[in-house]
Amino acid sequence: MSGAAEDAMPAPGAVPDLEPLVTALRGTVLDPTRPQYRRSDGGAYDLEAAMFMRGSAPRHLSAVSGRGATLRLSDGSELIDLCSMTENTVLGLNDPWVQLRQIAHVLSERPHYVTVRFGNDLYYRVANRLSRYFDKTGGGRDHVLNMRECTGSGAVELALHAAWTAARTSPGRRRLASFVGAFHGSNLGGVLVSDHQPERGSGRVLLDRADNVEQFPIPATGPDGRLDAATLDALATLERDGAQYFAVILEPIPWRNAVHVVPAEFLRRLREICTAKSICLIFDEVQNGFGFTGAIRYGEVSGVHPDISVLGKGLTSGHGALSLIVADRAFGTVESPFGFKSNSANMLSLVAVDAVLDRLLGVTGPDAEVLPHWLPAGMERDLREGLLSTTYPRTVKMIDEMLTELRRRFPATAGRATGAGLMRGLVMLGGDGRPSSALAGEVARGCMDHGVHVRQAGTALFVKPCLVITQREVDQALAGMTRAIEAVAGMRAG
Ligand SMILES: Cc1ncc(COP(=O)(O)O)c(C=O)c1O
Repeated sequence: MSGAAEDAMPAPGAVPDLEPLVTALRGTVLDPTRPQYRRSDGGAYDLEAAMFMRGSAPRHLSAVSGRGATLRLSDGSELIDLCSMTENTVLGLNDPWVQLRQIAHVLSERPHYVTVRFGNDLYYRVANRLSRYFDKTGGGRDHVLNMRECTGSGAVELALHAAWTAARTSPGRRRLASFVGAFHGSNLGGVLVSDHQPERGSGRVLLDRADNVEQFPIPATGPDGRLDAATLDALATLERDGAQYFAVILEPIPWRNAVHVVPAEFLRRLREICTAKSICLIFDEVQNGFGFTGAIRYGEVSGVHPDISVLGKGLTSGHGALSLIVADRAFGTVESPFGFKSNSANMLSLVAVDAVLDRLLGVTGPDAEVLPHWLPAGMERDLREGLLSTTYPRTVKMIDEMLTELRRRFPATAGRATGAGLMRGLVMLGGDGRPSSALAGEVARGCMDHGVHVRQAGTALFVKPCLVITQREVDQALAGMTRAIEAVAGMRAG
């Protein structure tokens, strides 16, 4: 069984060499495990929705601690998080290595917030590491980065700006291709290129729509495994009108569509058209990037290389807000005020990305020679090997088996398993045997009552576990999901 999974890595505070520090904080105002907030009437601290703007209060349940895929809630119950604390924590909660690296940074005299107006070597280290990785896996391209965004939405907007800027000398190139069901973010740029908007037409900022965004159908194959007619039409349109387009933006796995995987054949042909017609191909990898499909970037998985990759979410595995774009140098120009967010690229987020890269790809070269001698054996082994080469295939297998078992237990309710790698879907079938969003929503909500966090993805349950989930956690999730489906199916029968 996986080193990461089974050698339960101790939290930094449980490593004997570090224990005195944690002990010194215990019981003082610096102890983070003390209750942080009580209402003036002494009531529960997690029910004050009135303090927040509508829709922005946290859920009724609060997380008080956790590790890996297991979360402890304020009511004392335990939850298996099959959606990585909502898609961000590729290493699960409280990854000990990311935490150790952050602790080491905080205890040093290194500045903790540095903008690029003052350079620092960590900024270059992370950029160099990523650009070397992209150059190595990027089909011979020469990449440049922008690491100055905090949110995926910001990075999407920046990618659009870079593509638009590159097309400046061709005024006829105004159109942007996007796809039905896509979601690219919640700022103006993200909203205007997205199809999926929960409250369509509910009054947006400044603009309701952009008349140069063309929405194409979701690329798909037919029952014969070949690209379907609508997908071929989309390719033909782009081929014919290519000179009018400055960019195509797509998610390689648009999960809201029942965790659909865009066919590789479509990506290949789209790449050919974009190259021939000088259209900037943007992969929005905010969801799939950084480990969830077995690589840092989808180009490595699909063999199809975009001109710009947008990365966010998983980068810091929940230990900081950062997003970035990696672009072919031909699309590497951004202009003020774009790409210069003044509250971005804070040092702890950069430490986290660097540490996440250590965990996913492994620590090599001179760094490997100075790993602390007191690291637990399992952690050291994982760091030398890199989790993507060792743990990832095993984790994918566990999730495959879990989905297969659910389909076996509920042949009338659990339909197709969709998705790829650690971004998976399980289609829910209604009483008429057809995919049902209502049922998927009902089961996803029900799972919470049975100790499992999954989300709804259209007609499917969305499962996006962290890489280090253990077999015990998967078994517990399977039991909870089984109870949730039984409860819904029982209500239907009754
Ligand atoms: C594919 C995709 N792109 C962009 C975003 C926006 O990211 P953020 O919420 O960090 O702004 C999201 C958010 O869920 C996303 O799923």
